[in-house]
Amino acid sequence: MSITDEILVTPEVLSCPYEFYRRVRDEAPVHQTPLGFWLVSRFDDVMSVVRDPERFSSNFNTSFASGSASPEMLAVLADGYPSANTLLTNDPPTHTQFRALVNKAFSPKRVAQLEGEIRGVATDLIDAFVADGKVELVSQFAVGLPLTIVADALGVDRADMAHFKQWSDHAVAPLSGLLDAMQMLECARSRVEMQRYMAAVIERRRAEPRDDLLSDLVHAVFDSGDRIGESLTVAELLNVIEQILVAGNETTTKLLAAGMLALIENPEQMLKVRANTELIGNLVEEALRIESPVQMLPRIAKTDVEVGGVNIPKGSMVMVMYGCANRDETKFANADVFDIERSNARGHLAFGQGPHFCVGAALARSEARIGFELLLDRLYDIALAPIEQPTDRALSMTLRGLTALHLVFTATPNNSTSES
Ligand code: HEM
Repeated sequence: MSITDEILVTPEVLSCPYEFYRRVRDEAPVHQTPLGFWLVSRFDDVMSVVRDPERFSSNFNTSFASGSASPEMLAVLADGYPSANTLLTNDPPTHTQFRALVNKAFSPKRVAQLEGEIRGVATDLIDAFVADGKVELVSQFAVGLPLTIVADALGVDRADMAHFKQWSDHAVAPLSGLLDAMQMLECARSRVEMQRYMAAVIERRRAEPRDDLLSDLVHAVFDSGDRIGESLTVAELLNVIEQILVAGNETTTKLLAAGMLALIENPEQMLKVRANTELIGNLVEEALRIESPVQMLPRIAKTDVEVGGVNIPKGSMVMVMYGCANRDETKFANADVFDIERSNARGHLAFGQGPHFCVGAALARSEARIGFELLLDRLYDIALAPIEQPTDRALSMTLRGLTALHLVFTATPNNSTSES
């Protein structure tokens, strides 16, 4: 069967899409799928689309704002704050203004300042399981690290972490497009709950700023456009916060788990990184490249356009395939090989490119680097647990990653330092 007749959303393809991707890149690098949307698969073509917001809009609202919201859901959402469109699904010129403002809160200084806290949280998480000689790495480490860092940065009480986790999960869930009406309603309730909680924290930070990311966001002001000197409204702040939850938590969880599994499956790479921990930074880049947490995202063609010699009509939904472009052989030699010494690993598109380039990239990199430093320092002989199903993954076109990674290990002598 021609690749253009095949669909991506079968469980077989989604569990390991890379052969499908290879055929798309080789046989029909830009094509319309039987489901209606278009695929753009090659590195250069993906790059040209995401760097061209004039012709490709990011205004692809897939969740609550879509026209398919039920009357019940609209009633629930009416109790919360109105939707604002700040970053992910916004276009220039207003995207540019919001983005410049939000960048101030994610400054290199702020991210560097968080290093100590990242180290502390990661250490606590490892302390909690290291004596067991086994761990389910996703739930016991990879979820908790980014979630706690972001919760702290947003002023969420540690006592409210269970709620925060649920808000974060419910913010991401609608993106799958697979929820039924009841589940969507639950997500909508969760959203309103999060909005009320965070609106109260925002007001506290407005009155009494602290040295944290949320205070930076609350007090940052526009320095271009028609709102110079103004700060974000509560609805806009809530939208930015929701996007941080959607884009920042699960993605980083998936990066940590994918990197660890790749090291276990490639023991020679594990040996290399243990012999030279300076390679951890590049290990993070290579894990992002070969198992990109965000596999693809939509754009909408604003006009009739041509990509890679193929005409795409105005109004089409175009999937930019970050995970596929990251395995493009014309950019990455032996692209299917996990090589932590790859010299251009950092050239991947896992954080996107162009105006929507991930605002949390430096934070995610820092969390993953420190996470791997500590895991490799304190756990030795790491292997998959000898159980029937040591790994599990969610099947999704957009977010790829493990939902379970059961490991066994030996605690290194280094552990006595942190336990004493
Ligand atoms: C491994 C971790 C991460 C990955 C793979 C990732 C991936 C991405 C990608 C691919 C985009 C571009 C979206 C597009 O092209 O439309 C993006 C945007 C974004 N990311 Fe990340 N992200 C990660 C971590 C984070 C973190 C830690 C945060 C915040 C705490 C964050 C917040 C955002 C936001 C707010 C945007 C929207 C930016 C805009 O539209 O201007 N991300 N991310």
